[in-house]
Amino acid sequence: MIGVELPPAFAVVVEPSGHRFDAPADVPLLRAAREAGLILPSSCRNGTCRACLCRLVSGRVRYAVEWPGVSADEKAEGFILPCVAIAETSLVIEAPRLVDISATL
Ligand code: FES
Repeated sequence: MIGVELPPAFAVVVEPSGHRFDAPADVPLLRAAREAGLILPSSCRNGTCRACLCRLVSGRVRYAVEWPGVSADEKAEGFILPCVAIAETSLVIEAPRLVDISATL
């Protein structure tokens, strides 16, 4: 039997609701949340419209695109774009407009 090695996944806690989901190391946060039945605000899903902008309280992300639509000042204040942000560590994010549809999946 051949073993399949899965990429690591990091725990993400969403404040203020306290919802949690796992974010694989190769999947943007928006999609990882959706797969757990948690809907974050979004529109373009490619890092340009900023509809998904939220704050990273703790942890570290990398971006799937070279020029995500957050300014250097916003980055310094902890703002991220979860549609193109990928977890590199466990995270706490602040997303007050999260919608939980997990009970309907
Ligand atoms: S959904 Fe448009 S920047 Fe994230």
